[in-house]
Amino acid sequence: MCGIVGYVGLNEAEPILLDGLAKLEYRGYDSAGIAVHSGQKINIVKSKGKLAELQKKLSQNELKGTLGIGHTRWATHGAPSDINSHPHASNNCKIAVVHNGIIENYLSIKEELTESSFTSDTDTEVIAHLINKFYTKATIENLLDAVYAAIDKMRGTYALAIICSDFPDKLIAVKKDNPLVIGVGKNENFIASDITAIINYTRDAYLLDDGEVALIDAKNIKIFDKDKTLVSKKIFKIDWDIESAEKGGYDFFMLKEIFEQPKVINDFLSINLYDENFLHKINLETLENFTRIYIVGCGTAYHASLIGARLLSKLPNIFVSAEMASEFRYNEPLIDEKTLLIVISQSGETADTLAALRMAKEKNARVLSIVNVVGSSIARESDNVIYITAGPEISVASTKAFSLQVMALYVLVCNLYKVCKVISTEKFLQLQNELQRIPSLVTEILDRENEIKIMAEKYLSCKNVFYIGRGLDYFIAREGSLKLKEIAYLYSQAYAAGELKHGPIALIDDSILIVGVITQKNIVEKTLSNLKECKSRHGKIFIVTTENNSDIKNVADDSFIIPQISQIFAPLLANISLQLFAYYIAKGLGYDIDKPRNLAKSVTVE
Ligand code: AGP
Repeated sequence: MCGIVGYVGLNEAEPILLDGLAKLEYRGYDSAGIAVHSGQKINIVKSKGKLAELQKKLSQNELKGTLGIGHTRWATHGAPSDINSHPHASNNCKIAVVHNGIIENYLSIKEELTESSFTSDTDTEVIAHLINKFYTKATIENLLDAVYAAIDKMRGTYALAIICSDFPDKLIAVKKDNPLVIGVGKNENFIASDITAIINYTRDAYLLDDGEVALIDAKNIKIFDKDKTLVSKKIFKIDWDIESAEKGGYDFFMLKEIFEQPKVINDFLSINLYDENFLHKINLETLENFTRIYIVGCGTAYHASLIGARLLSKLPNIFVSAEMASEFRYNEPLIDEKTLLIVISQSGETADTLAALRMAKEKNARVLSIVNVVGSSIARESDNVIYITAGPEISVASTKAFSLQVMALYVLVCNLYKVCKVISTEKFLQLQNELQRIPSLVTEILDRENEIKIMAEKYLSCKNVFYIGRGLDYFIAREGSLKLKEIAYLYSQAYAAGELKHGPIALIDDSILIVGVITQKNIVEKTLSNLKECKSRHGKIFIVTTENNSDIKNVADDSFIIPQISQIFAPLLANISLQLFAYYIAKGLGYDIDKPRNLAKSVTVE
């Protein structure tokens, strides 16, 4: 999704902006641009395509100056093109702006701006014209008033970075429903939509809240609320290290992040597994006050929600349901003060998930979130948070965050099983011991990376892939299938194995690969029999399973046996092998795995 950087200080802005934009590439984009104040005027260079295209243009037209804004665009309004790229400027080039989000009423604003001539198809361009219209006197107060007047007219979501040709040392930042942080430096300050863009320069940041406007120069940062009142905010310390945002010798971030899993799972467990206050810390020592639990998320986070909901549905006297956040909002769910909403999100900024949270809060539900990015909107707006402590996840395809979301749910579920007396203390201790084994079992799987690579390479010519499983395995089938779609661009579909016979089996022939996930003891034979049906229709079969028996070997063209563990935890292990499988198919097909086409890391628009 779009990315913003801004710089004001004593150094040349251009290289700092380009460095920040490079750090934001992982979010997904189709064009990029920067605006730098030369001391006299604002100069803009922008280009469709990757940053290299922008750099090519800049090598012929270097932008000098110590104030600037930059943007990577992910097209929403108007196709990717040089003209539609940000920054956008007013006709007199007094105001330049970059924007993340969507201005819903931009067409009606455009109609009102009869004196402006528009060059792009974007919603963003109207913002520059609108601010310019209200900007009538070259004073900073008037400029701020103009920004407030403009945002008063705008409906939608926005994070904005704004510069004005009359002020070669002032940067303005505005936030509503899209993340924006201010990096605090010495004699220089930064803004960014994502802290990865600025961790090379500073570890101190202010996290802007909705409705806030910041006026920033090299030495001062003033933050105003929606009523223009100065607010005082606490500095937020960024504790992510720079290395974790670098590739560290791996070909792709995705592979690096897959291989980080033993460590980050271990880190998570060392903080949470034996913490007797785990439930107390999230204010959930009892569920007596709740009649309903919804778990919501999008994409991969939704798959984690499905696993959580299936396990929590064993709790007595409580209705539990996993919901896609994008649907949940519009389904008129029953929500009241006896509802617990568990929100799952890596980024903590996903628009649909955030909207589901806000809807639930309006109806007085309690919100517990499971989030990676510290200080993100979802984390800040939740009543309680479990941080999964994955560190930065750069690859668009989520891997370590999913495993940690599931780990967080496992720890939560085991604790709730215990307090709700679904299991004995003895069983609880046994499950704790099992969870403690997971990092080393994940390592065992990763050590066999080559086996999976060889298998994946056999299937590079497959155009269609089914993933099937039952119960918890079905949810992992969905996650495996999503990963393959995202990075290998293969048509892939997950089915609950029992559903195959009700239609999809009509598609099976020798061109289709069927990936079967079998980790749940009670359904081994059932899923295997579905796979046999596929085999007899000449489908190719790859099975990921805990079962090491001849029946499996007879059915499978290839199989991958994962280590033994309590069966509720086995799906997580199965998923590690499917992550590698998708990775090696995408690698074999020669794709840019970390930046899949059309996708964004954090989906901050609906
Ligand atoms: C995962 O591989 C995807 N890129 C995507 O489905 C993602 O999980 C989803 O957009 C939700 O993101 P979030 O966890 O940041 O809310």
